Amino acid sequence: MIHILAIDQGTTSSRAILFGPGLNVVAIAQEEFPQHYPASGWVEHDPSDLWSSTAATARAAIEKAGARAGDIAAIGITNQRETTLVWDRATGKPIHRAIVWQDRRTAATCKALRDAGHEAKVTHSTGLLLDPYFSGTKLKWILDHVEGARARAERGELAFGTVDSWLLWNLTGGKVHATDATNAARTMLYDIRRGRWSDEMCALLGIPMALLPEVRDCAADFGVTRPDLFGREIPILGIAGDQQAATIGQACFAPGMMKSTYGTGCFALLNTGAEPVASQNRLLTTIAYQMEGRPTYALEGSIFIAGAVVQWLRDGLRIIRSASETQALAQAADPGQGVVLVPAFTGLGAPYWNAECRGAVFGLTRNSGPEELARAALESVGFQTRDLLEAMRADWAGQGDTALRVDGGLSASDWAMQFLSDILGARVDRPRVVETTAMGAAWLAGQRAGVYPGMAEFAQTWALERSFVPAMDPDERAARYARWQRAITAAQAF
Ligand code: G3P
Repeated sequence: MIHILAIDQGTTSSRAILFGPGLNVVAIAQEEFPQHYPASGWVEHDPSDLWSSTAATARAAIEKAGARAGDIAAIGITNQRETTLVWDRATGKPIHRAIVWQDRRTAATCKALRDAGHEAKVTHSTGLLLDPYFSGTKLKWILDHVEGARARAERGELAFGTVDSWLLWNLTGGKVHATDATNAARTMLYDIRRGRWSDEMCALLGIPMALLPEVRDCAADFGVTRPDLFGREIPILGIAGDQQAATIGQACFAPGMMKSTYGTGCFALLNTGAEPVASQNRLLTTIAYQMEGRPTYALEGSIFIAGAVVQWLRDGLRIIRSASETQALAQAADPGQGVVLVPAFTGLGAPYWNAECRGAVFGLTRNSGPEELARAALESVGFQTRDLLEAMRADWAGQGDTALRVDGGLSASDWAMQFLSDILGARVDRPRVVETTAMGAAWLAGQRAGVYPGMAEFAQTWALERSFVPAMDPDERAARYARWQRAITAAQAF
């Protein structure tokens, strides 16, 4: 039987999913790895953990399925985006731990660049904003803080990569230093209009261009695996950042189609077609996917805390033992209390981009308890998504009444999805297959290998599990959203 192996290297775990000939899931392996927090607001991963957990889960998934390497036609990679690595080209050894997308250590650098008036130029070229979220200032930090790094980078001795490049380098035994257009688009070094690394951005951040990987399409020839890894060379034929892979897995191929993934954070992408749309409302302009040299663009809203708010109920407040208890608790809340939680634990992402803001709870009474906090936590996910949709509607006239396709852990909660639909005033569609991220990567590699169908036929295979339609009275919707907006304003003023 012919299989495609999808590698999904995420923020808290590495996963490998083996897909069968009909894009059906055959086997899954998953491994968590340690997070490092060396200082407040800093988040790092050990590059060797990223690689070893990826290699181990890939082997485990193949073994679980009782498959042989000879059965695997191709590998597709999808990954946590923006996370920044630098390694020595001769030895393959990293010169620093990976600085994770969540890391805020470069907030002051970003502010200084903003104050110096560079943001408009950055946004025009890269589609991004001057925020520590993206790779550029993280890479600059490594070059500035690791002794001798900049000189070595200038001599061409070092390689920079996002996680996809690091895995590709290791999978191919150091033969290929490449990335795809979606990952490149998150570095703040890539000109998304011209489709090449930007001299201007590299000069602004002091990044020697000798560090940078070659940028290819999402479905492309990325080399073959080292023969000793799986006992045979396997071609690597697909790469996309995880949110873009989910956009592909959700078959959002037509302009106006939109998906939202609820993992640790929430990332909503709206397909805007062949032309990049410049946001007037502090959304990101990014590449949704690039096929045959042609990029398709998206507007993206990134929220840092979505599913993580449920983790906070469990590990911080300790009012639930497992995430699955949240829904029942929220349902038992007194709806009249109107407690509002702003989960700005690590600052606010789109559309506010306030790195300094912190979380807040409004409207507490003596009767407020775990139920009301659980409800406020789930509602905060809906409110934040509404903020993104408001910005998208304002930015792009083509964004009419189209439904929102959802996936990710929190999308399993019927209560949260009904509230989302209620507060958006829009239909929310949950697909039957929720492994959308891995499926996107598998499809990229599989169609390139000739195992899976082309885009139009693949889009036909998307199947609905359940639609949620708005049931909230429009006046109530407006009043509740206005309360949220007041809460966000107050939290930022604190
Ligand atoms: O931009 C960050 C995003 O790619 C991380 O996704 O699923 O690893 O939390 P995830």
